[in-house]
Amino acid sequence: MSSINYSEKIPNNVNLVNDRTLQRALEHWQPRFLQWWQEMGPSDFQAADVYLRTAISVDARGWAHYGVTKMPDYRWGIFLADAQPERKIGFGDQMGQPAWQQVPGEYRSTLRRLIVTQGDTEPASVEQQRLLGHTCPSLYDLRNLFQINVEEGRHLWAMVYLLHAYFGRDGREEAEELLARHSGDTDKPRILTTFNEPISDWLSLFCFTYFTDRDGKYQLKSLAESAFDPLSRTCRFMLTEEAHHMFVGETGLGRVVKRTLEVMKEIGSDDSAKVRAAGAIDLPTLQKYLSFWCSSSLDLFGSEISSNSAANFANGLKGRPDETQYEDHVLREKTMALVTPEGEQQVPMLNALNEVMRESYLKDCEIGLKRWNRQIERAGFPFRLTLPSSRFRRTIGTWAGQPVDPQGNLVGKEVYEKSLPGWIPSESDRAFVHSLMQRVIEPGKMAAWIAPPERGINNLPVEYEYVKLH
Ligand SMILES: [Fe+2]
Ligand SMILES: [Fe+2]
Repeated sequence: MSSINYSEKIPNNVNLVNDRTLQRALEHWQPRFLQWWQEMGPSDFQAADVYLRTAISVDARGWAHYGVTKMPDYRWGIFLADAQPERKIGFGDQMGQPAWQQVPGEYRSTLRRLIVTQGDTEPASVEQQRLLGHTCPSLYDLRNLFQINVEEGRHLWAMVYLLHAYFGRDGREEAEELLARHSGDTDKPRILTTFNEPISDWLSLFCFTYFTDRDGKYQLKSLAESAFDPLSRTCRFMLTEEAHHMFVGETGLGRVVKRTLEVMKEIGSDDSAKVRAAGAIDLPTLQKYLSFWCSSSLDLFGSEISSNSAANFANGLKGRPDETQYEDHVLREKTMALVTPEGEQQVPMLNALNEVMRESYLKDCEIGLKRWNRQIERAGFPFRLTLPSSRFRRTIGTWAGQPVDPQGNLVGKEVYEKSLPGWIPSESDRAFVHSLMQRVIEPGKMAAWIAPPERGINNLPVEYEYVKLH
């Protein structure tokens, strides 16, 4: 079954052509991946010609190679960022020792679990988004969706490469399982809850790429610090692609705000019913979508107090995003004040690292909101978009199941139940948003609920036919 021309079909910088063991593992896995792509990838668009970016090498010119291709022919490659010579462990109890080029036996199962958990999210998001192509607001947006989908596919390849190359037989079994679990499947769901939420409209897609892909950025950044050097290098390269996914979220939501403000000015009203009647998404509905996806994504950071995160840090497996910006990289002496439903607690800093990450994540999320709120302010409307408190609607950690309002106050069970449909999208909000999802495929045309982007892809005009449907 040696049908794969390695340098052509699987662009890579891991010397695949000379690695027989890895070739055998991938030869077995690749047809299954392609079958998964056909069955679970973008529905009904496999024959479309799509203007896509492909990574063919890690240097600046090679990682963004543009061309027209059918998605099943996409060249899913395996890339590690360039090695830093003599790289040392940058945090934890083994700080200053040489980074690991192989997996130390004592951390094998934990590292495998970290890689599998990250790897599981990649195909999960493709599955969540598989029907969205049918309701695209423009060809430009359709292309961006497909770009994200093929790159999440490549991120799966990146994690499978690590499993195949460094974890032997159990790594190969985990790689199979990554194709066997499916988003939303009752018997074999994806590992993390957020990746089982259906994404059935484009407003949800933009929220997902703004909030959930940004969690991805933070996870990849913390794994990029890992003492296990191949994992670090893989994640550093994945981050270059992740940036585009968040760009789609940030500009997508910005274009929704822009269009809504245009409509509000046209009709001279901020009344939700009137804005909706004019075909735009009213700002309170947008706020509910933001609150839903932000709170759902906050759970992905795990419990506020976590012995796993402490061990992962102390052992050098997973650092903090941008570890070098901190002064103390060992954290054996530090504590952090955490507010729990029982009151304030001093927690060893090592055990509070999930919360440290969650806080810096929320700061990053604020940037887009500030921009959109400036747009709203300039348009002369008093409404302001906000992020929900990190205690709101949590299902993991000390605030799990607590009746907390979006501002973070405990409100009592009854008030909570009654108010929730006003805080996150209700059935009728979702039905309204769905009613707007009509597909627009004339080059350069946009659906009425979203403004056009400021520019096209790779210096091409917005009117370019980014996807040729057959
Ligand atoms: Fe990804
Ligand atoms: Fe992503």
